[in-house]
Amino acid sequence: MDRPKPFTARIDGESLALPAPADLPLLDSLELGGVDWPSSCRDGTCGTCMGRIKEGRVRYETEFIVLSDQDVADGFVLPCVAYPESDITLEGSSF
Ligand code: FES
Repeated sequence: MDRPKPFTARIDGESLALPAPADLPLLDSLELGGVDWPSSCRDGTCGTCMGRIKEGRVRYETEFIVLSDQDVADGFVLPCVAYPESDITLEGSSF
């Protein structure tokens, strides 16, 4: 059976468009595409990889402690444990 077509990940203000499979953490897709995105724990507990979603949706398959419900509602995302559910545009990792 063929794998589903990957979503596309973009970083706001940059021209690159990376494949972002639904079954791969967003951080892995960014790194496979050559993006030097900050990371440390890779399990959702340190916040180093935090970015913000400008467009798109993600899901989480693990418990995480560094984002509050309000953070999630405000668009903050932990790419190391976030899986895309649509095409994604990220605002970046430093604010
Ligand atoms: S690398 Fe630590 S929360 Fe993502």
